[in-house]
Parts: sequence; structure tokens; C-alpha cells
Amino acid sequence: MTSIDSNCMTLTRFVLAEQRKVPSATGDLTQLLNSIQTAVKAVSSAVRKAGIANMYGIAGNINVQGEEVKKLDILSNELFINMLTSSYTTCLLVSEENENIIEVETDKQGKYIVCFDPLDGSSNIDCLVSVGSIFGIYKKSDNKESNINHALQHGRNLVASGYALYGSATMIVLSIGSGVNGFMYDPSIGEFILTEKNMKIPSRGKIYSINEGYESLWDPAIKEYIQSKKYPKNGKPYGARYVGSMVADVHRTIKYGGIFLYPASIDNPTGKLRLLYECIPMAHIINEAGGKTSNGKIDILDIVPENIHQRSPIYLGSKDDVNDLLNCIEKHDKKMKM
Ligand code: AHG
Ligand code: MN
Ligand code: MN
Repeated sequence: MTSIDSNCMTLTRFVLAEQRKVPSATGDLTQLLNSIQTAVKAVSSAVRKAGIANMYGIAGNINVQGEEVKKLDILSNELFINMLTSSYTTCLLVSEENENIIEVETDKQGKYIVCFDPLDGSSNIDCLVSVGSIFGIYKKSDNKESNINHALQHGRNLVASGYALYGSATMIVLSIGSGVNGFMYDPSIGEFILTEKNMKIPSRGKIYSINEGYESLWDPAIKEYIQSKKYPKNGKPYGARYVGSMVADVHRTIKYGGIFLYPASIDNPTGKLRLLYECIPMAHIINEAGGKTSNGKIDILDIVPENIHQRSPIYLGSKDDVNDLLNCIEKHDKKMKM
């Protein structure tokens, strides 16, 4: 006998119930999130090389239809764009893979703006390490024709944000502004099921996560902070974990606590990660889960982006850990001014 929960809480059911709490809601957000779920299912299937014959054939990069096989990040981008534009709920899209904003055809337009990284951690794909997708959803702030300024909103305006992690299982972690919930993909029924209710980050962790290979390029404050985790005055040293896929590193930080850092460096003075579709959606999730984020000076959610592919240094995770880091940065800033 299989045990199937005949009353399981699917992602769609969860969002529908949340939508009911807002009397003026139209159902558009549910529709939009459904289109994201479809994209995520298809990306997950592709990442797991399901339908391997269609993707590679026997000959290698040409599939059985004789077509050149698309790279996974390009395929993921097309999936997100096609599912979102055909949902009749979006007017403007920003993707890591597209230099310019994507305007949705007039007859398909809705009121939402979606910024997304269709496949995050792409350098990990070929060695089968976890990758993810990240998205942030805003509402159009006026009735003007959609333009780039509609996408340049600060994170406090987010209506919803989330990520999909293609790890040992596929999971969507979502916030629609009232906490964070995790939905595990059940391939046997093709649905995302609520498995992690009201996710909260521990107030302190035991893990730091940073690409330590670049230590010689960091600011003195970052060097001192990491040193203090490796050689603590009291207690045990922190453990180090760095997947190199932001989604996987952030997900671990939410589950186990600790701190994730992608700082500025001598050759990348604004860091590497992008505000609109990496830093801001993740900051929204972290905040909703009771954690803290910063660019070293202000909360990531208070930054007003000036261009769609803008980068920012980012620090996020357990409140106490991020506060320790910010104290260290402040101490160094004061020293510089003296
Ligand atoms: P993407 O694959 O979308 O370009 O992003 C990769 C990002 C992010 O996932 C990760 O945190 C970071 O790059 C890792 O960078 P380093 O290799 O410099 O550590
Ligand atoms: Mn990315
Ligand atoms: Mn990417």
C-alpha cells in the first residue's frame, strides 16, 4: 500500500488560501506563481538530465531530433520567459541572461514585474553540484507604460520572492510577505508540497560561508572577521562551507544558521552578486525568516537600484553573526577616519 496524503497542502493550495485573506485579490499572483512552478519543474527535469536521449542522443551535443542541445542556463531562461509572459500577469521581466528589460506584449500584460536568475550556480552544472533559480516579484507602481524604472524598486516593495533549489531533491522556498515556507517537489504527483512551515533562521550559527581563495583581495575588516571565526578567543572555531551556488549556500544558512558573505574585493569593488535577481530576493527571504542582511553599510532591502544588472557586496544570515561582522566593519571604518 502506498501512503498518499489525500489532503496535502500543495503550493498552489497554500497561495490560494493566502489570497483569500486579501478580499481585493484577483488571483493573478496565484496564476503567476503557477507559471513559475511550471518553469521550475521543467528546469528541475532538465538539470536531472531526465529525457537524456532527447537532450543528448547518442552522439553527444546533438539531440535525437538533430538539434543542437541548448545550454541549461539558456533553456532555463527561455522556460521562465515563456511561462511568465503567457501567464497574462506580468508586464516587465528582468533576467540575468538578458542585457535589457523584457517587455511583455500588450495583449498579454498584467500588473507584475518579475526579476529572476533562471539558473544560479551555472559553473556547478557540469559536476552535478546543486544549482537553483531565484525570483523577486513587484507590482507596477503607476499606470504609465512599463519602463525600466518599474524594475528599479527597492526590496521593501517586493510582493513575493523565492528560490528553487535543485539539490538532492527539488524545493521551492517562498515568501509572500508573511513568513517563509518551503515546498518539496513530489515527482510522483507533480506537485510542490508544504514540508517546511514558517522557516526561521537560528539567531546564531556555527558556519561561515565565503570564497576563501580570494582572501588576499578582501578588505581588512573581512579578513579580521573570518580570522576571528577560525581562531576564536573563546569557544570552538566555526566550520567552513561554500558550495559556490548562492541558492544552496543561502538555503543551508537558513536551515543551520551562520553567515554567508560575498564581499567587495580589489578587482570587484562592488562584489559579484546582482542586486535585482540575487541579493534583493534573497534578502527578502532572509528578513522574513528572522535573519539579517547588509551590504556592509545598509540593509540590502533599502538599496535603490540604479541599473538592472547592478552588483552589490552582500552579507546575510543569523542576526548575531551578521551584527558581529557589521561591528567589525564599523571598527575598521572608524580607524580609517582617524
Ligand atoms: P550565476 O551562475 O548565476 O552566474 O551565479 C553564480 C554566483 C552565485 O551562485 C555564487 O554565490 C557565486 O557566483 C560564486 O562565485 P565565486 O565562484 O566567485 O565564489
Ligand atoms: Mn546567479
Ligand atoms: Mn544565473
